[in-house]
Amino acid sequence: MAVCLLPSFLRTAFVFSCIMFIFPALTESQQTGITRNYQFDIQKTNVTRLCETKSIVTVNGQFPGPKIVAREGDRVVVRVVNHVSHNITLHWHGVRQLQSAWADGPAYITQCPIQKGHTYVYNFTIVGQRGTLWWHAHISWLRATLYGPIIILPKLGVLYPFAKPYKEVPIIFGEWWKADTEAVISQALQTGGGPNVSDAYTINGLPGPLYNCSAKDTFKLKVKPGKTYLLRIINAALNDELFFSIANHSLTVVEVDAVYVKPFATKTLLITPGQTTNVLLTTHAQYPNANFFMEARPYVTGQGTFDNSTVAGILEYENPKSFSSSSFKKDLPLYKPTLPDLNDTSFASNFSGKLKSLANAQYPANVPQTIDRQFFFTVGLGTEPCTHNKTCQGPNGTKFSASVNNVSFVLPTTALLQSHFSGKSKGVYASTFPIIPLNPFNYTGTPPNNTFVTNDTKVLVVPFNTSVELVMQDTSILGVESHPLHIHGFNFFVVGRGFGNYNPAKDQAGFNLVDPVERNTVGVPPGGWIAVRFLADNPGVWFMHCHLEVHTSWGLRMAWLVLNGNLPNQKLPPPPSDLPKC
Ligand code: C2O
Repeated sequence: MAVCLLPSFLRTAFVFSCIMFIFPALTESQQTGITRNYQFDIQKTNVTRLCETKSIVTVNGQFPGPKIVAREGDRVVVRVVNHVSHNITLHWHGVRQLQSAWADGPAYITQCPIQKGHTYVYNFTIVGQRGTLWWHAHISWLRATLYGPIIILPKLGVLYPFAKPYKEVPIIFGEWWKADTEAVISQALQTGGGPNVSDAYTINGLPGPLYNCSAKDTFKLKVKPGKTYLLRIINAALNDELFFSIANHSLTVVEVDAVYVKPFATKTLLITPGQTTNVLLTTHAQYPNANFFMEARPYVTGQGTFDNSTVAGILEYENPKSFSSSSFKKDLPLYKPTLPDLNDTSFASNFSGKLKSLANAQYPANVPQTIDRQFFFTVGLGTEPCTHNKTCQGPNGTKFSASVNNVSFVLPTTALLQSHFSGKSKGVYASTFPIIPLNPFNYTGTPPNNTFVTNDTKVLVVPFNTSVELVMQDTSILGVESHPLHIHGFNFFVVGRGFGNYNPAKDQAGFNLVDPVERNTVGVPPGGWIAVRFLADNPGVWFMHCHLEVHTSWGLRMAWLVLNGNLPNQKLPPPPSDLPKC
């Protein structure tokens, strides 16, 4: 073992001989992983929900899209061919993309979109992650229908840190819109008003029996008594955080965002868009002679209109005494779960507080203990003036906007990563993203009179291996609101969280540097703040944004530019030859 206790700067170079020394019996594939090839054809498909048929953009005609299955250490190669007239990019949400920034996918950040008739091959390796992630379109609102699971199994021969489940089932929440979501957002951006809301939520693409004309489109989870199921839960909804519960059953949370957590039991969970949560569901020991609704509905803190409907699926027990194939009985009592109130922030806060990294010898929480740079960002809504002396449909005739440190981020017309790599940033982006608010105010008090944002394309540049601490503070401009902030290329360690204005003198003392939850998407509490840390060990340009799509569209987004390190394996490689052009 002693040969492995090298200082970290030597470890990468020695890892191969080190593995050979300890595990001489391992086979080649166990060390290096295999390549998993996928072909994704982007095409239009007719889908009927709520009695209306709609042509939607899909991968391979499937809705939700196909699942990607890989083991930790595997290479994933996805050949994407665009057959539709929309420009497309796909993003592998939560995959760290170590030295593969070109495969990350956000449009105009790491790549230009794939145009109709064109192909792009996403090529990346999954390193040090295991659990559930997901993929989705990352341009405009096309992720409304273009999404699917990424299942990352442990390396061959490595067990879960919990009892092996009898079965594993993906549960993806989405939103169903009767309208064309591309028209919805483009109209909203023109009028400056709030966009329309969805008509239904879905579980695995199905709205369920609580909506009109939808009973036949109900997700059924068919189970046997006395077994444990692993539910891989993903929130792919565009604009809504969701509560989820199964009547008369408890869920044990074991992993979030492809990182194991200390297991805890809960009747209800909260999941924001962008987040994933693996839970164990142990069924009743005896056949219960009943069916159970599984329901999700939103957690809402903002002022605008929202889809206040409820999606339901059914947990159905197989009767062990019935030998016919139709052993699922319809005429049984049906139990419904009790979900928190739509604005139950104390539930949300309690639930977030229960999430802790597993942080054991095998799965350590590598929280940066010392920090090189501290940043403070306000996140929230704002306004911008209506153009052409017209009246807009936002607050007081203005346009809705959203910002980070009052900068409403404008997407460039070429990709930031390409401009950076080729040294041609002039006219594309500025490296002057403010590291603290330029005009401090009482962030959660009475809002200032002028709520206008500035519109700009600014990035925050950090050297390779900078250890970053970032506090994100919600603002009360246009009302406090929960914002699920997502970072590309990294995971956040959530070291602190609170309500009101962040106060370093008092709040820093309470930071958890031992077992904070590690995740790629984290909710900034309404009228509160979160403190996160991460090590900027991945060269590239990395998008960070609110995963409520409407807020991203309004500008609640920014980008980190992480410079190359000195060693060859600390540099951004050149772009693949098929990288799309703008
Ligand atoms: Cu799931 Cu930048 O997104």
